[in-house]
Amino acid sequence: MWLLEKEVHMPSNNQPGSPPVLVPLWTREEIAKSVATLARNIDRDYVDCTPVLVGALKGAFIFMADLVRELQTPVEIEFMRLSSYGTGTESSGDVQIEFGPSREAIEGRSVIVVEDIIDTGLTTTAALEHLNQYDPSSLRICTLLDRPERRLVELEADYAGFTFTDHFVVGYGLDLDQKYRQLPGIYGLETDA
Ligand code: IMP
Ligand code: MG
Repeated sequence: MWLLEKEVHMPSNNQPGSPPVLVPLWTREEIAKSVATLARNIDRDYVDCTPVLVGALKGAFIFMADLVRELQTPVEIEFMRLSSYGTGTESSGDVQIEFGPSREAIEGRSVIVVEDIIDTGLTTTAALEHLNQYDPSSLRICTLLDRPERRLVELEADYAGFTFTDHFVVGYGLDLDQKYRQLPGIYGLETDA
């Protein structure tokens, strides 16, 4: 959402129209290790049930695909689409639920929302509120990336891969204006800070 003036990170290149500089943060190997650890923790916590994983599109599509293949616990898969980001690194702050699982898929089930990143927490909070209406037996959050210092609402991930403080990040499903999702690693946009 990048509303806090002092924390606004924009690409440092001053040439209008030139691409931003991407700084490598986590390699595909480091990501794979983190995803495997998350999967082991979920396996440990969901022994006697088949949780329903709800992937938050579009950003979590690669994480979700890798996570389910690391899990031993049988799972069911759903997706939901929430939109908050307009363009660039500025969020509209206004979360829309475009589509999501049916009540039948959620009611009475152990549900885990799978997120690419939690920043302000507004998107995930909207997802939780929406899914809660369908009376899951439990509702948890698994996110690959977590930037807790920027929360605008109280929200803690039950499972988090990498926790960090700065950088707008792209790659491994995450985008800047729909670009860079296919990069296998995660990169930060270089800043002037
Ligand atoms: P929140 O509502 O501010 O927590 O933002 C959550 C959503 O914003 C994520 O699911 C992403 O789609 C997007 N987002 C937040 N931070 C970043 C980032 O650093 N890179 C790419 N997308 C981001
Ligand atoms: Mg996005």
